[in-house]
Amino acid sequence: MGRANPLLSDLLAEDPGLGKENPGRVFVPGCGSGWDASVFHTAGWDVVAVDMASGAIEEAQKLVPSAVVGDALRWTDEPFRVVFDHTFFCALAPDDRPEFGKMADRVLGDDGRVVSVVFPIGRSLEKGGPPYGMSPEAVDEVLGDGFVRISTGPEATIGRRSWPHKLCIWERS
Ligand SMILES: C[S@@+](CC[C@H](N)C(=O)[O-])C[C@H]1O[C@@H](n2cnc3c(N)ncnc32)[C@H](O)[C@@H]1O
Repeated sequence: MGRANPLLSDLLAEDPGLGKENPGRVFVPGCGSGWDASVFHTAGWDVVAVDMASGAIEEAQKLVPSAVVGDALRWTDEPFRVVFDHTFFCALAPDDRPEFGKMADRVLGDDGRVVSVVFPIGRSLEKGGPPYGMSPEAVDEVLGDGFVRISTGPEATIGRRSWPHKLCIWERS
Protein backbone atom coordinates (compact mmCIF):
# COMPACT_ATOMS: atom_id res chain seq x y z
CA MET A 1 0.00 0.00 0.00
CA GLY A 2 3.01 2.31 0.47
CA ARG A 3 1.70 3.17 3.94
CA ALA A 4 0.41 1.35 6.98
CA ASN A 5 -3.11 0.01 6.69
CA PRO A 6 -5.32 2.83 8.06
CA LEU A 7 -7.46 0.33 10.01
CA LEU A 8 -4.35 -0.51 12.04
CA SER A 9 -3.13 3.11 12.33
CA ASP A 10 -6.56 4.19 13.61
CA LEU A 11 -6.74 1.30 16.07
CA LEU A 12 -3.31 2.09 17.54
CA ALA A 13 -4.05 5.83 17.68
CA GLU A 14 -7.17 5.05 19.74
CA ASP A 15 -5.72 2.31 21.91
CA PRO A 16 -1.88 2.12 21.75
CA GLY A 17 -1.71 -0.89 24.13
CA LEU A 18 -4.51 -2.75 22.30
CA GLY A 19 -6.53 -3.35 25.45
CA LYS A 20 -3.62 -3.12 27.92
CA GLU A 21 -2.13 -0.12 29.64
CA ASN A 22 1.22 -0.46 27.85
CA PRO A 23 2.42 -1.78 24.50
CA GLY A 24 4.01 -5.27 24.54
CA ARG A 25 5.67 -7.62 22.05
CA VAL A 26 4.17 -7.99 18.59
CA PHE A 27 4.98 -10.50 15.85
CA VAL A 28 4.42 -9.31 12.29
CA PRO A 29 4.73 -12.34 9.95
CA GLY A 30 5.25 -11.58 6.25
CA CYS A 31 5.94 -7.93 7.10
CA GLY A 32 6.88 -6.97 3.51
CA SER A 33 8.29 -3.42 3.45
CA GLY A 34 7.45 -2.93 7.11
CA TRP A 35 4.80 -0.21 6.99
CA ASP A 36 2.45 -1.87 9.50
CA ALA A 37 5.36 -2.98 11.70
CA SER A 38 6.54 0.63 11.76
CA VAL A 39 3.31 1.96 13.30
CA PHE A 40 3.63 -0.63 16.09
CA HIS A 41 7.28 0.47 16.52
CA THR A 42 6.25 4.14 16.72
CA ALA A 43 3.52 3.30 19.25
CA GLY A 44 6.19 1.78 21.52
CA TRP A 45 5.73 -1.93 20.78
CA ASP A 46 8.69 -4.33 20.81
CA VAL A 47 8.39 -5.50 17.19
CA VAL A 48 9.59 -8.75 15.62
CA ALA A 49 8.91 -8.28 11.91
CA VAL A 50 9.79 -11.23 9.66
CA ASP A 51 9.70 -11.88 5.94
CA MET A 52 11.23 -14.64 3.86
CA ALA A 53 12.17 -12.15 1.09
CA SER A 54 15.51 -10.47 1.77
CA GLY A 55 14.62 -7.52 -0.53
CA ALA A 56 11.51 -6.84 1.56
CA ILE A 57 13.55 -6.95 4.76
CA GLU A 58 16.12 -4.49 3.35
CA GLU A 59 13.22 -2.04 2.89
CA ALA A 60 11.59 -2.89 6.24
CA GLN A 61 14.84 -2.28 8.13
CA LYS A 62 14.69 1.39 7.03
CA LEU A 63 11.49 1.66 9.12
CA VAL A 64 12.02 -1.03 11.76
CA PRO A 65 15.75 -1.76 12.23
CA SER A 66 15.07 -5.09 13.96
CA ALA A 67 13.20 -6.63 10.96
CA VAL A 68 14.69 -10.02 10.00
CA VAL A 69 14.61 -12.60 7.21
CA GLY A 70 12.95 -15.85 8.25
CA ASP A 71 10.11 -18.31 7.79
CA ALA A 72 7.30 -16.83 9.86
CA LEU A 73 5.30 -20.07 9.80
CA ARG A 74 8.14 -21.88 11.58
CA TRP A 75 8.77 -19.10 14.14
CA THR A 76 9.37 -20.39 17.66
CA ASP A 77 10.40 -17.29 19.64
CA GLU A 78 7.71 -16.47 22.21
CA PRO A 79 5.72 -15.19 24.00
CA PHE A 80 4.07 -12.38 22.03
CA ARG A 81 1.02 -10.38 23.06
CA VAL A 82 -0.09 -9.88 19.46
CA VAL A 83 0.33 -11.61 16.11
CA PHE A 84 -0.57 -9.02 13.47
CA ASP A 85 -1.64 -10.14 9.99
CA HIS A 86 -2.20 -7.98 6.96
CA THR A 87 -2.01 -9.72 3.57
CA PHE A 88 0.18 -12.50 4.98
CA PHE A 89 -2.65 -15.00 5.56
CA CYS A 90 -4.13 -14.25 2.14
CA ALA A 91 -0.71 -14.74 0.52
CA LEU A 92 -0.52 -18.32 1.84
CA ALA A 93 -1.73 -21.17 -0.35
CA PRO A 94 -4.92 -22.48 1.30
CA ASP A 95 -3.19 -25.79 2.15
CA ASP A 96 -0.64 -23.84 4.22
CA ARG A 97 -3.25 -21.95 6.25
CA PRO A 98 -3.34 -24.45 9.12
CA GLU A 99 0.34 -23.57 9.72
CA PHE A 100 -0.78 -20.01 10.51
CA GLY A 101 -3.03 -21.36 13.29
CA LYS A 102 -0.24 -23.52 14.69
CA MET A 103 2.20 -20.60 14.62
CA ALA A 104 -0.23 -18.28 16.46
CA ASP A 105 -0.88 -20.91 19.13
CA ARG A 106 2.86 -21.52 19.54
CA VAL A 107 4.08 -17.92 19.79
CA LEU A 108 1.23 -16.16 21.66
CA GLY A 109 1.29 -15.91 25.43
CA ASP A 110 -1.71 -16.74 27.61
CA ASP A 111 -3.17 -13.27 27.07
CA GLY A 112 -2.19 -13.25 23.39
CA ARG A 113 -4.33 -12.00 20.55
CA VAL A 114 -4.41 -12.32 16.78
CA VAL A 115 -5.19 -9.02 15.08
CA SER A 116 -5.88 -9.31 11.36
CA VAL A 117 -6.90 -6.99 8.59
CA VAL A 118 -8.97 -9.63 6.83
CA PHE A 119 -8.72 -9.14 3.04
CA PRO A 120 -9.83 -9.80 0.29
CA ILE A 121 -13.36 -10.45 1.57
CA GLY A 122 -15.75 -11.96 -0.97
CA ARG A 123 -13.07 -13.16 -3.39
CA SER A 124 -13.67 -16.80 -4.25
CA LEU A 125 -10.89 -19.26 -3.45
CA GLU A 126 -11.53 -20.71 -6.91
CA LYS A 127 -10.07 -17.54 -8.42
CA GLY A 128 -6.71 -18.61 -7.01
CA GLY A 129 -4.15 -16.15 -5.70
CA PRO A 130 -2.33 -14.61 -4.12
CA PRO A 131 -4.25 -12.89 -2.77
CA TYR A 132 -6.43 -15.89 -1.98
CA GLY A 133 -9.95 -15.06 -0.81
CA MET A 134 -10.11 -14.65 2.96
CA SER A 135 -12.87 -14.32 5.54
CA PRO A 136 -13.05 -14.03 9.33
CA GLU A 137 -14.44 -17.58 9.33
CA ALA A 138 -11.37 -18.89 7.49
CA VAL A 139 -9.22 -17.58 10.35
CA ASP A 140 -11.68 -19.00 12.95
CA GLU A 141 -11.17 -22.37 11.30
CA VAL A 142 -7.37 -22.45 11.45
CA LEU A 143 -7.21 -21.01 14.96
CA GLY A 144 -9.61 -23.69 16.16
CA ASP A 145 -11.32 -24.06 19.52
CA GLY A 146 -8.38 -22.53 21.40
CA PHE A 147 -9.32 -19.06 20.16
CA VAL A 148 -12.49 -17.01 19.96
CA ARG A 149 -13.19 -14.02 17.72
CA ILE A 150 -13.93 -11.07 20.02
CA SER A 151 -14.23 -8.30 17.45
CA THR A 152 -15.31 -8.11 13.81
CA GLY A 153 -15.06 -4.67 12.28
CA PRO A 154 -17.27 -3.21 9.58
CA GLU A 155 -16.39 -3.73 5.92
CA ALA A 156 -14.00 -1.06 4.68
CA THR A 157 -12.75 -0.32 1.20
CA ILE A 158 -9.25 1.10 1.23
CA GLY A 159 -7.35 2.88 -1.51
CA ARG A 160 -7.66 1.31 -4.95
CA ARG A 161 -8.20 -2.21 -3.67
CA SER A 162 -11.42 -3.56 -5.10
CA TRP A 163 -12.12 -6.11 -2.32
CA PRO A 164 -13.19 -5.00 1.16
CA HIS A 165 -11.34 -5.43 4.46
CA LYS A 166 -12.46 -6.10 8.05
CA LEU A 167 -10.30 -5.62 11.13
CA CYS A 168 -10.83 -8.66 13.38
CA ILE A 169 -9.41 -9.72 16.75
CA TRP A 170 -9.18 -13.18 18.35
CA GLU A 171 -8.11 -14.10 21.86
CA ARG A 172 -7.51 -17.38 23.62
CA SER A 173 -10.75 -18.97 24.75
C1 LIG B 1 1.37 -9.57 0.10
S1 LIG B 1 2.87 -9.44 0.97
C2 LIG B 1 2.34 -8.54 2.41
C3 LIG B 1 3.36 -7.66 3.02
C4 LIG B 1 2.87 -6.83 4.20
N1 LIG B 1 2.25 -7.61 5.23
C5 LIG B 1 1.93 -5.74 3.73
O1 LIG B 1 0.73 -5.83 3.99
O2 LIG B 1 2.38 -4.81 3.08
C6 LIG B 1 3.09 -11.06 1.64
C7 LIG B 1 4.48 -11.24 2.23
O3 LIG B 1 4.55 -12.48 2.92
C8 LIG B 1 5.84 -12.99 2.74
N2 LIG B 1 5.82 -14.43 3.08
C9 LIG B 1 5.07 -15.41 2.50
N3 LIG B 1 5.26 -16.57 3.14
C10 LIG B 1 6.13 -16.32 4.15
C11 LIG B 1 6.70 -17.11 5.19
N4 LIG B 1 6.41 -18.42 5.32
N5 LIG B 1 7.54 -16.51 6.07
C12 LIG B 1 7.82 -15.19 5.96
N6 LIG B 1 7.33 -14.41 5.00
C13 LIG B 1 6.48 -14.95 4.12
C14 LIG B 1 6.20 -12.65 1.31
O4 LIG B 1 7.58 -12.66 1.08
C15 LIG B 1 5.57 -11.25 1.17
O5 LIG B 1 6.49 -10.23 1.47
